[in-house]
Amino acid sequence: MANTKQLELFELQEKRRDMTIRHVITSPWEALDRVNWDFTGETTQYLTHTFHSYPARFIPQIPNLFIQLFTKEGDIVFDPFAGCGTTLVEAMFLSRKGVGVDMNPLACLISKAKTTLINPDDESRLLGSVSKLQEVFHLRESDDVPYLTQAGAFDDTDMKFPKRKISELFTPEIIDELKKIKEHLDELKDNQALFNLGLVALSATIRVVIESERRNGFFKTFRQKIRSMTYAFEETARRVGTSRVTVLQGDARRVALPAKSVDLIVTSPPYVNALDYYRVHQYNMAWLGMDYYAFRLQEIGGHSHFIANRFRLLSEYLGDMFRAMIEMNRILKSDHICAIVVGNSSLEYELIESHKFFSAMAKDAGFETRKTLFRNIDATRKYHNQDIGKINTEYILVLQKIGDAPAKSNNDAFVASVVRREMLKFKKRVDKNPGSSVHAKRLPITRIRQIPKRLEAAIATIEKDIGIK
Ligand SMILES: C[S@@+](CC[C@H](N)C(=O)[O-])C[C@H]1O[C@@H](n2cnc3c(N)ncnc32)[C@H](O)[C@@H]1O
Repeated sequence: MANTKQLELFELQEKRRDMTIRHVITSPWEALDRVNWDFTGETTQYLTHTFHSYPARFIPQIPNLFIQLFTKEGDIVFDPFAGCGTTLVEAMFLSRKGVGVDMNPLACLISKAKTTLINPDDESRLLGSVSKLQEVFHLRESDDVPYLTQAGAFDDTDMKFPKRKISELFTPEIIDELKKIKEHLDELKDNQALFNLGLVALSATIRVVIESERRNGFFKTFRQKIRSMTYAFEETARRVGTSRVTVLQGDARRVALPAKSVDLIVTSPPYVNALDYYRVHQYNMAWLGMDYYAFRLQEIGGHSHFIANRFRLLSEYLGDMFRAMIEMNRILKSDHICAIVVGNSSLEYELIESHKFFSAMAKDAGFETRKTLFRNIDATRKYHNQDIGKINTEYILVLQKIGDAPAKSNNDAFVASVVRREMLKFKKRVDKNPGSSVHAKRLPITRIRQIPKRLEAAIATIEKDIGIK
């Protein structure tokens, strides 16, 4: 049952990293320069990280190292774009308190399930409940799903959907099967942790329905998922005494946490124009009774609007990210570190180097950029952006809080002034050399000449576009 190979590799990695940090390196800043941030060949799928796929999650090695280098046991680590809880899981493993915020209700459910340890009695109850359900599906203990890895993980990074319309994949038989599982889960409702786990296993099963060519036998996938989850908990319990993780569903631009309350921030925000999480997850959310439309309205970086002029998405995104940075600054203790992981994206045939915008805006939010680290992404973990192709590199901005931001995150005039300055700087670059993304090579010159005009039009509507919906 256990995926012992992955676990052994993980343990080896842990030992190696521990040796480097404790015996070779004398300061955290030296470590940042010495570490090879590519982490080539290292496993990212271990213990509760395997519970559910999630697009564009970052590798656990990044939060792990920052937590080890910049905090001590019991400190608070915060991730305002927590996604499926990578930072929170690593905080738990390292005996820190983790606090995560995400607007996506499915992300919050997954994070909670990964960081709420269950005791052996509850584990037996969960497995017993699945055995009962097994009878409904007339299965034997030994009927298993061959293609899932033993730890129950499946690759999440490329999101290869079959070419058919997703809704057509849910045949009446599959709907019936999933409904039976869901109804059965209701009997766990009196125990929130178990119920959450059941829902996450159901959601992971729904992703398999979407991603696989198989058209039946999804209860077996669900059962295997539950078994691998209980195994992951057993292994986690051997390493971790208690979990002190809090997950809040909310907006990174206005966070319900007190000022100067956290010791470290490690996060990877959404990219502009790259991925709509609400779209990726809408089937899962519909099955779990979650309001994906409400999430869509508050999602940063989505691209289901401003279709006629994508530069308007950029000013909106910069405004949103600047508000989030002001909030990060408010919540972080003075002199402490905020690490932001982000890659490039593109829109309107222009390359968008988000880390450069972030670094400039960080200054206005009370941060100093101490380092910009560069990393290559493992070839198997790249994800696709229509305009710039595979995203195969990313940056880690290491910011230090050197003062308070001069205004609050809801100060529209302040946010607009910083976004305007950044958009005007960007326009200077575009005016000189329009069409900087690789796909612009295919564009006729007449179309390239229109780019600066489109950008100018977007700059004219900044005040309107940066408002929070
Ligand atoms: C790149 S992902 C983070 C992945 C995360 N590091 C992980 O490993 O799972 C960006 C996250 O930002 C979230 N998000 C988008 N808009 C948000 C908002 N307004 N407030 C908080 N989170 C938001 C998305 O739901 C998504 O989970």
